[in-house]
Amino acid sequence: MIEFYSDSPETTEKIGQKIAKALKGNEVIAMYGGLGMGKTALTRGIAAGLGTEDCVSSPTFALVNEYEGRCKIYHFDMYRINGIDDLYAIGFFDYLDTGVLIIEWSENIADALPDDCITIKLRAGNDENSRVINVEGVDV
Ligand SMILES: Nc1ncnc2c1ncn2[C@@H]1O[C@H](COP(=O)(O)OP(=O)(O)OP(=O)(O)O)[C@@H](O)[C@H]1O
Ligand SMILES: [Mg+2]
Repeated sequence: MIEFYSDSPETTEKIGQKIAKALKGNEVIAMYGGLGMGKTALTRGIAAGLGTEDCVSSPTFALVNEYEGRCKIYHFDMYRINGIDDLYAIGFFDYLDTGVLIIEWSENIADALPDDCITIKLRAGNDENSRVINVEGVDV
């Protein structure tokens, strides 16, 4: 387990880039943390670190956005997902092992996550722009 401290969205993106360096290309990254904690900002950094030049935006309405870097990157937002039937409906399981899956609101699909996924928990720090980012399951 490793814990990072961020004092700005830019720092959070840099932390994401650092995490990306440790990825092989087929991991599942389960992100936890409430509204506005920086999950999308961190995803932006991971995607950039994996080599995509595309602009990463929140997939809240699309459910999944796809990017191409040194591997495929699938960015999910499970905010509106409730249960396993919804996951089958969006074809979630077909994505496993075909690229890096980054999942916002993993709270909502906890039972369906692979045992070996990387867990990232984001929480507020002491002031408005500070965040504590806890990473487990990968050697960063
Ligand atoms: N240290 C920080 N790291 C990341 N974001 C920060 C930080 N400090 C302030 N912010 C602000 O917090 C917000 C984070 O937004 P972001 O969309 O990344 O969060 P999120 O966790 O994906 O939210 P949601 O649950 O709505 O998907 C942005 O408005 C950003 O400017
Ligand atoms: Mg988000």
